[in-house]
Amino acid sequence: VRPRLARWRVLKVEAVGAMVELTAAVPGEEEPWPGQFYDLACPGDWRLRRPMSYFRRAPGTMSFLFRVVGEGTRRLAGLTPGEDLEVLGPLGRGFPLTAQGPHVLVGGGSGVPPLWDLARRLEGQVTVWIGGRGAADVAAADLFPGLAEVQVVTEDGSRGLKGLVTEALPREGTFYACGPVGMLRAVATHAQRSGQKAYLALEAIMGCGFGACLGCTVPLAHPDPRQGAYGRYARVCLEGPVFPAEEVVL
Ligand SMILES: Cc1cc2nc3c(=O)[nH]c(=O)nc-3n(C[C@H](O)[C@H](O)[C@H](O)COP(=O)(O)OP(=O)(O)OC[C@H]3O[C@@H](n4cnc5c(N)ncnc54)[C@H](O)[C@@H]3O)c2cc1C
Ligand code: FES
Repeated sequence: VRPRLARWRVLKVEAVGAMVELTAAVPGEEEPWPGQFYDLACPGDWRLRRPMSYFRRAPGTMSFLFRVVGEGTRRLAGLTPGEDLEVLGPLGRGFPLTAQGPHVLVGGGSGVPPLWDLARRLEGQVTVWIGGRGAADVAAADLFPGLAEVQVVTEDGSRGLKGLVTEALPREGTFYACGPVGMLRAVATHAQRSGQKAYLALEAIMGCGFGACLGCTVPLAHPDPRQGAYGRYARVCLEGPVFPAEEVVL
């Protein structure tokens, strides 16, 4: 799907634990791939365009789930129903949908959003593991009913199992993860030790969002010497954000 610049009408902005879900009306056909993202801004605020995975989809609507961490997310969370949301997307390359199950989806902190549509579209046994510091960080677990089995792990034990989500994972399955870099490393190591495949959705601070500024690069594990410096890195916004774990150095 080619990325487009569009304005979508805001329908709802609601708190989901420590995060905010912003739902907008989407005119026409919008068929992003799980793991793809959009650059979002309040109209006129193009300098504050911020990359965001899409979260839930229904006919004619799409939502984004995010944590307010600075000016851009604060402004997005301040939008009210009836206002416009400026979107550029869908952007990037998402998760594969053809790998063998069982499928083990792992979301830490604000890494849960890309897992919703992934859980909806994978076939076979799907388990979503959601980790966070406390109950407020994992509230999105309540928004997966009917899609997949959900397991919750919190560091303070206020909901679900107590500990780190990466310590509770099963050994078998294809792993799909999104979250802080430490969690991604742990999932990659866990999968490698068990001889399983892992796909990681990376985050990077982004400039353009579509491959032009080279502001979001990640080192490749197997550089292509024929391409010089360009062969040593991949752009998270264009070649990613999802990479097979063995292809990148975190
Ligand atoms: C492909 C992609 C998908 C994303 N999806 C989501 C999502 O679904 N939900 C969500 O909550 N967040 C998501 N993020 C992170 C989100 O883009 C940042 O939190 C946001 O850009 C911060 O903007 P701000 O203006 O509010 O904060 P800023 O004022 O720009 O920054 C505030 C703090 O957050 C840090 N920060 C800013 N951008 C990022 C980033 N990209 N990664 C890590 N730290 C950052 C800054 O270093 C600073 O410490 C995603 C990022 C990427 C690259
Ligand atoms: S953000 Fe500009 S190349 Fe990725």
